[in-house]
Amino acid sequence: MSTHREDQAHRAYDDSPDRFRASHPEDAFSGANGVLFEQAMAQTRMAICLCDPYAPDQPIVFANRAFRDLTGYDESEIVGQNCRFLQGPGTSREAVARIRKALAEEDVVVVEVLNYRKDGTAFWNALHLGPIYDTSGRLLYFFGSQWDVSDVRAARADERHARELARELSHRMKNMFAVIGGIVNFTGRARGIEVEAREINDRIQALGRAYETTLDEASSGSIEVGQAIRSVLGPYDPEGRRIRFEGNGLRSDFSAVSVLGLSLHELAANAVKHGALSEPDGHVTVRWNRNGGATQPTIVIDWLEEGGPHVDIAGVTMSPKAGSIVDRMLGMARGNIEREWRPQGLRATLRLPLREEVG
Ligand code: FNR
Repeated sequence: MSTHREDQAHRAYDDSPDRFRASHPEDAFSGANGVLFEQAMAQTRMAICLCDPYAPDQPIVFANRAFRDLTGYDESEIVGQNCRFLQGPGTSREAVARIRKALAEEDVVVVEVLNYRKDGTAFWNALHLGPIYDTSGRLLYFFGSQWDVSDVRAARADERHARELARELSHRMKNMFAVIGGIVNFTGRARGIEVEAREINDRIQALGRAYETTLDEASSGSIEVGQAIRSVLGPYDPEGRRIRFEGNGLRSDFSAVSVLGLSLHELAANAVKHGALSEPDGHVTVRWNRNGGATQPTIVIDWLEEGGPHVDIAGVTMSPKAGSIVDRMLGMARGNIEREWRPQGLRATLRLPLREEVG
């Protein structure tokens, strides 16, 4: 009775190189290098075969174990056949023509081609073909390696599909926000409250921008905080000179989008009216970080205005009217905002619970 170890050794040993050597004594992979090469051929999980370019129809003369495992055929069913026996109804004629041309020109080629196993199941074969020459430059064999890339292709297709879906969603969402904006403006005009309507509309559009950036990655369930921040603030700095962004790829769950979008919009709108962005040389630095350790992670956003009109510190210590919506929203999200008026401009620190377990 064989031991488990012997069983394993037996299963692991691929003797197809031995048989190849027996039938092609003139091409025995000789010496120490030959042994190593044979072992590599036998052990690699990459399917490998050699075809004879001089025999009629270029038959396979060697196929390793991985080739047999991949295709489901025995060696006796493989050796002597042309490799096209792996092709079938779904195989692209164009791909086969590329292979034919490369072989005729003794070129190296990599083609993804649909092949079939013995049991009829199809797989995508990333096929690599190339000529092997002897030292005098004479063509000896064609070398072929096969790799099943069906999963990779399926993943690529899923990704493409997800991207198309995200694009379509983004398109519809933009439309929806534009329609809502239209309704607000129209109603505002009809009722003689254009100013209020514009203020509401600006908030709605900021929210739309914050959401828009998240769609590409909707499937991940999380958002990139910096991307949402940039997108919300984009219109306040069309030339990209006055708002500086400093942060990393911090991600948060989706619930942060609304509150981030609206809070930053209020700060920016305020800076345009009264703060740093109301002066040609004023600028704002926005920094985002993760804080608070593992138990209570927090998104911390620093808003630093500089170069705006001189702040009369005594005059602004009262609760600012423009800030109230930010305070309320952050409060609802269990976050907060601290404001500090320095002579050179407002400094605000927003804190928001970070839920990062998703994505
Ligand atoms: C091939 N060919 C091949 N074709 C395929 O569909 N799957 C495969 O894995 C391989 N592997 C392979 C290895 C080697 C070494 C060679 C030389 C060729 C291609 C196939 O055998 C044949 O050349 C092409 O089908 C083009 O020729 P026809 O069919 O148009 O005569």
